[in-house]
Amino acid sequence: MRKILVFTDLHFTEAGQGIGHLDPATRFRDGLTHALAQFGDAERVIITGDLTHHGHIAQFERLRDTLTDCPLPVHLMLGNHDTRANFRAVFPDAPLTPNGFVQQIIDSDDYRLILLDTLEETHEVPHSGRLCAARLNWLDRALGDAGQRRVIIFMHHPPMDVGFPAMDEIGLSNKDAVLKLLNSHANTCQIVSGHVHRTISGTAAGIPTAIFKSTCHQAPMMLTDASAHASVDEPGAYGVLLLGTDGVIVHSEDFGLTDRREIVYA
Ligand SMILES: [Fe+2]
Repeated sequence: MRKILVFTDLHFTEAGQGIGHLDPATRFRDGLTHALAQFGDAERVIITGDLTHHGHIAQFERLRDTLTDCPLPVHLMLGNHDTRANFRAVFPDAPLTPNGFVQQIIDSDDYRLILLDTLEETHEVPHSGRLCAARLNWLDRALGDAGQRRVIIFMHHPPMDVGFPAMDEIGLSNKDAVLKLLNSHANTCQIVSGHVHRTISGTAAGIPTAIFKSTCHQAPMMLTDASAHASVDEPGAYGVLLLGTDGVIVHSEDFGLTDRREIVYA
């Protein structure tokens, strides 16, 4: 089956600056190296936002330099920690919609991958996301002319609450409108997101959803009130999507566990 590698929430900082004791660039490099060693036959890499921790030019530049040697096509998306103007300055060739949003369509014979831009820089609730009317109209057209292809939606903010009150407060502010639009076309078979920094799966208005861990810091299991900034140093992870003739299989692979991964036959 065709493979797609998915990374999310890299949170690149400037060289010499970490998040706690973690260096986001090192963690991402470790994850990418791990993924390429195991799944070098993947067709592409999709990174679903929070590329940087503060949206600084130097942070995007550090990511750009890190990706220079990646042998696979890499598609970059934005999250709530990014800044659109600085991203465009460092990645001037990234596909944009006519309105300047970082959204794109990747087609094959049987699948349409739709990459959305949920960054809302004038948010009433900092770090929440939104698809404004222009982005929804673009999505409506992208869904409408997909033909017989199955659609996979990639969006930083998941379009549903996940049961973590602090994260749900900074979720997608118009999730109902997005899900209504997706279901009106009835061709989306999978939604893939980040933002929460934890492996989560479920459904959103009947559509299968998957959320992957960050490559760097993770959210603790917090079904009661807690800060959206609460983080733990669990292993980072990336996603492996298997695109088959009958549908999509979603795997999440932790990396940095090599010493514990010697195979024994129990
Ligand atoms: Fe994040």
